[in-house]
Amino acid sequence: MSQALDVLGGITAEQFLSEYWQKKPLLVRNALPEIAGILEPNDVMELALEDEVSARLIKQKDKDPNQWTVKSSPLIKGDFQKMPKLWTLLVQAVDHYSFDMAELWKKFPFIPQWRRDDIMVSYAPKGGSVGKHFDFYDVFLVQGHGHRRWQLGQMCDASTEFVAGQPLKILPEIEVTFDEVLAPGDLLYVPPGLAHYGVAEDDCLTYSFGFRMPNVADMVDSLSDSMAENDALKNPVMDIQRKQPTKIGEISTNELSYLREQLMSQLQNPSVLSDALMCLISRPAYPNNIPENDEIGTGDLEEALDQGYLLKLEPASRLLYSELDGVIHFWANGERLNISDVFNENLQRIADGEAIPLNDEMYDPDILEDIAELLNSSIIMLLPSEE
Ligand code: SIN
Ligand code: CO
Repeated sequence: MSQALDVLGGITAEQFLSEYWQKKPLLVRNALPEIAGILEPNDVMELALEDEVSARLIKQKDKDPNQWTVKSSPLIKGDFQKMPKLWTLLVQAVDHYSFDMAELWKKFPFIPQWRRDDIMVSYAPKGGSVGKHFDFYDVFLVQGHGHRRWQLGQMCDASTEFVAGQPLKILPEIEVTFDEVLAPGDLLYVPPGLAHYGVAEDDCLTYSFGFRMPNVADMVDSLSDSMAENDALKNPVMDIQRKQPTKIGEISTNELSYLREQLMSQLQNPSVLSDALMCLISRPAYPNNIPENDEIGTGDLEEALDQGYLLKLEPASRLLYSELDGVIHFWANGERLNISDVFNENLQRIADGEAIPLNDEMYDPDILEDIAELLNSSIIMLLPSEE
């Protein structure tokens, strides 16, 4: 992957990862011109009113723009009446509703799929913003329509203080080190912790390609879930070797350290830990966005072989693979999958973002069963190849 990438303004992925990723911002003019026109402001408005969509409507008071209100979805038409001059509509996970948007993740092949969060879009009229703030995640901000002025400032962290009494985590000040107006197709990479402030110059759509990392609390939570479900761990541990009677009210340091060792030996089991992590990391960001499909059987699939269909990842689902004990295993939407060896390689290609043809090579009962199960749980989808 050592060629210069247009999306990075002509630097290589290696250079970006070593110099910019998680460290400093990067502005690229005309990085993603194809994003313009995929969604129009009206599409964003309509999407925000749909049932399953996660959206927020942020308003600033006309009399005092430092007073903010936030209304989270479900949003209704009435929420858009009597609007102040300054507002922003945020819609999460537009990549789950627009295949064209989902395809744009492919412009960032140097970051693995498991790091992706979602593509959020913001819609604001001139002057609209979500305030001066910082995020704990990496984001590529891409201008889709109109113009937005971005100011970047100081590095912040968990101890940074916010303006009191507001529903958003607004920074009182930003020490401006960067001040540029982005036009459709322009991209700005913002690393975690960097203060930023984007103000619409006109009717404006900005896309945030967000990346996530799990936190330790969630990792522990997932580990505890998977250990609690493990029958082998449900039997009481054997008692410590007792040589002489002890005080009956006391649990000795020896006894405690024995129990700690029992626990630690399980916590250090790499398979148990990896499985718990994979379950967590494969959890979808918005489980409600996963569509429910009509049940498909292996007979239907047999008929569809060589009819020009493609198998592809469902954008709202999350499918990952990893090597465990020398074998490639799959996890999707928070659970480990059981996939036959004969379909393993093809499913890796699908998880890597490829669309693979449903052809005669799939004429195997195990493969067809795997495909049917993956389709019925909406982990993958079946599309006519011309789409
Ligand atoms: C926006 O698009 O207005 C907000 C995106 C962000 O600051 O993360
Ligand atoms: Co932000």
